[in-house]
Amino acid sequence: MREKLVELEKLILADVEKASTIPEFDNLRVKYLGRNGELTNILRELGKLSPEERPLIGKLTNDLKIKAQNIIDERSALLKEAEKQKSIKKESIDVTLSGRKRPLGHLHPLSQVMYEVEDIFLKLGFEIAEGPEVELDYYNFEALNFPKDHPARDMHDTFYITENIILRTHTSPVQIRVMENRKPPLQVIVPGRVYRCDADVSHSPMFHQVEGFMVDKKITFGDLKGVLSLFLRKMFGSKTKVRFRPSYFPFTEPSVEIDIECQLCKGKGCRVCKESGWVEILGAGMIDPEVFKAVKYDPEKYSGFAFGIGIERITMLKFAIDDIRLFFENNMLFLKQF
Ligand code: DAH
Repeated sequence: MREKLVELEKLILADVEKASTIPEFDNLRVKYLGRNGELTNILRELGKLSPEERPLIGKLTNDLKIKAQNIIDERSALLKEAEKQKSIKKESIDVTLSGRKRPLGHLHPLSQVMYEVEDIFLKLGFEIAEGPEVELDYYNFEALNFPKDHPARDMHDTFYITENIILRTHTSPVQIRVMENRKPPLQVIVPGRVYRCDADVSHSPMFHQVEGFMVDKKITFGDLKGVLSLFLRKMFGSKTKVRFRPSYFPFTEPSVEIDIECQLCKGKGCRVCKESGWVEILGAGMIDPEVFKAVKYDPEKYSGFAFGIGIERITMLKFAIDDIRLFFENNMLFLKQF
């Protein structure tokens, strides 16, 4: 019996060495100390031993039981502690680490350019006005001296809502809305969305313009040229080639279109400038007396100039973008570049 206990002790110690998880230690407890555990069984059978053997074997068995209990408890406690430390380490936060940077959003390239244009004119003393995108035919055309059946209406590819209500094709109608309500002197710019039924690499059915006008006594074509040249120099740099071409708009007389050297091909010719080397970015002119009559200004007393800037065009030239549709596709790879 004594040898059996010695063997059993070796077995227990070997099992304890092998155990490496909490469930394994639990199993050992059941195996040796449980209700049907080996040590428990020996104790239960003590009665079968001779009276001389009984006290000694009983003591040895009890000692072994305590020893086994202690070593199993000790080792499993160590294991529990090690696992706890491991999980603390895993879950702990190093408060001294520097924070993760969140990516900052930024303005859409069209907004950036819009704000830049506004900024230049605000510094020149212009103020900002806005008007409706769903507009009456009267403001979009009639009051701007496009009578019904005027051929210049054809160029506007108008979206009609009803016969008299349309999506504005330009920001010029806001000239009328402002002048109807106020008296000169006026220096106003009108940023906004406009709509035309047209789509290709350089046309989008919705695009952005900034209208501008200056009205007072004795405003001349020299003022127009001075203000717009200054604007273009600020926008594209003082070395950019600019040309003024005679043109026609019903609401200005005389009228000009202003081109700048194509910034993508530097004048050599490409698909953005339709191989001409020049890109039109501004329409302008002296406000037609017919327009002043529509807003009840005396054309003998007041004069003024007006202009319309295409924001997509300017942005394409500034950032060398060769397809207007890229602005509206919301492709992050494209947008992240600005
Ligand atoms: N409204 C014109 C367009 O969209 C642009 C324009 C040309 C505006 C001449 C003006 C101007 O104010 O004087 O084509």
